[in-house]
Amino acid sequence: MKYPRSAGSCLLPLLLAASPLAMAAAGKAPDPSLVERGRYLTTVAGCNDCHTPGYALNDGKVAERYWLVGDQVGYRGAWGTTYPGNLRRYFNNISEEEWLRTARGANYRPPMPSPALRAMTDEDLRAIYHFVRSLGPAMSLVPAYVPPEQQPTGPVVIFPMPPTRASVPTAPPPAAGL
Ligand code: HEC
Repeated sequence: MKYPRSAGSCLLPLLLAASPLAMAAAGKAPDPSLVERGRYLTTVAGCNDCHTPGYALNDGKVAERYWLVGDQVGYRGAWGTTYPGNLRRYFNNISEEEWLRTARGANYRPPMPSPALRAMTDEDLRAIYHFVRSLGPAMSLVPAYVPPEQQPTGPVVIFPMPPTRASVPTAPPPAAGL
């Protein structure tokens, strides 16, 4: 199947390549022993599905240099419209300790899987931190959160309202003896 959004091409002019200089400016260099683990966790935890343009629609075939730059596709539901942020910039501007604190108390709006972050060990969180920083900072435009009463301007995935209680079928009670 062909999808209209080709991964990366629209982002090319917006990206800043990772340079040793940019890295030095950001502080601590990534720890190579954690980077590989972080790459693995980021992949299996599905962070790219939302935070990397085109990733979910192209079976993950997006070059790593375009990973986690955030997306302009919004997720609209009862919470308003949210946009998966630019994690490359985010991690570049936050200390490792701040990240651990933030992830422990993660309570983002849907569909960001905050429980996944809260369930990770410190080691996992550190690995993700070091991996994303190893990709270098990237510039990309991610729209700001739009409250529920306002209309977003760009493309959105619309989440249906949850069904009312009355329309949800109730499961039959377990048969006696099971
Ligand atoms: C189903 C889509 C989805 C997936 C999967 C996802 N995110 Fe998100 N993420 C979002 C959205 C949407 C937001 C914005 C939430 C808000 O506005 O409250 C967000 C926000 C964030 C933020 C805050 C960014 C900022 O600029 O403040 C962080 C950090 C983050 N995600 C990390 C991750 C990590 C790490 C993973 C993988 C474990 C992940 N996300 C997986 C959708 C997703």
